[in-house]
Amino acid sequence: MADLSTVVNGLQFKNPFVIGSGPPGTNANVINKAFAEGWGGVVAKTISLEADKVTNVAPRYARMRAEGSKEVFGWENIELISDRPFVTWLDEFKAIKDAHPEGMLIASIMEEYRRDAWIEIVERCQEVGVDAFELNFSCPHGLPERKMGMAMGENPDIVEEVSGWAMESAKIPVWAKMTPNVTHIADPGRSALRAGCDGLAAINTILSVMGVDLETLRPMPTVEGYAVPGGYSCKAVRPIALRMVMELARMIAEEYPGRTISGIGGAETGNDAAQFILLGAHTVQVCTGVMIHGYGMVKDMCEQLSAFMDQHGFASIDDFRGASLPYFSTHADLVRRQAEAKAAAKARREGMVEKDTEWEGEKFVEQSDRLVSND
Ligand SMILES: Cc1cc2nc3c(=O)[nH]c(=O)nc-3n(C[C@H](O)[C@H](O)[C@H](O)COP(=O)(O)O)c2cc1C
Repeated sequence: MADLSTVVNGLQFKNPFVIGSGPPGTNANVINKAFAEGWGGVVAKTISLEADKVTNVAPRYARMRAEGSKEVFGWENIELISDRPFVTWLDEFKAIKDAHPEGMLIASIMEEYRRDAWIEIVERCQEVGVDAFELNFSCPHGLPERKMGMAMGENPDIVEEVSGWAMESAKIPVWAKMTPNVTHIADPGRSALRAGCDGLAAINTILSVMGVDLETLRPMPTVEGYAVPGGYSCKAVRPIALRMVMELARMIAEEYPGRTISGIGGAETGNDAAQFILLGAHTVQVCTGVMIHGYGMVKDMCEQLSAFMDQHGFASIDDFRGASLPYFSTHADLVRRQAEAKAAAKARREGMVEKDTEWEGEKFVEQSDRLVSND
């Protein structure tokens, strides 16, 4: 079996599978369960200093299923960050690290646009022993109304400034989590790296409207007759996530070699993870998939990723990270390559007898020669 362990920003992950910030990492019970099932890391639900400013509504999820099937491939949520008190989280972080020192525990943090708040949240979390931070610059709903989350992440200058505040006090690795709700994700990504972040995590959810109820004419998910656009996740977003991870990986290779990527978005299998890694990811996060399949899915993911590696003779994750990146090109280059391939095929075909009616008495020996494969 291939070795799935991997060192990322100096942190030892026993496999590249990490729970993505959200309900599957929302308190110590479930985080301990994740580590017990074998996840390499957990990004806890995003926390802030003042949980009493966070009020969720219900319903807050909406699902898209394949036609005529129970299979869920799209998931919208209008959930906010954690509504649990900051001090409770600090106690739980410490207890989780005591129980699972081998599990990489990453605190996802979000604060208002105040330097002192970011410094305080970083200092108090790292004191209790978390392994790394993920800066949530990407929640697309609710929090932007308080100028947090995606309101910061869509502005590269603010990403750089706020990342800088976190880096002033962080003594452990820091990843900046990117919003996909921008035209060029490499721009805010570059800003976070310029400020010193060790890595990027991408993507958070895609701003969406799940649909409109044709009876009531109200948009969904509907709360007291009204709605807000929410964040879309699950399998349906994977192609977009892969594209964005690819764009970040290319930027990092050119401008910040050595920085890392945690790939997120619709991953549910070992083969999905292999694709994120082939496009440059160091770890792969799963959030919605866990809400559908449960924590035990990590075992199948490990098995499938390992089988993929054995099939190709890859001994470690490092052996194939980014291996598919050189095959992205421009459309003009694809056109040129196709014209060359067609011309070569034509040249090969010309003079080769394809049908028995094409044999000619005068050229018989030459025609025979052309059909020989091993001269
Ligand atoms: C219900 C729900 C709650 C989420 N809450 C958070 C959060 O608190 N912080 C955060 O950074 N991302 C949050 N996310 C986004 C996920 O971490 C992830 O970036 C996104 O859902 C795409 O990955 P997935 O398709 O594996 O879910 C949440 C996602 C869902 C579905």
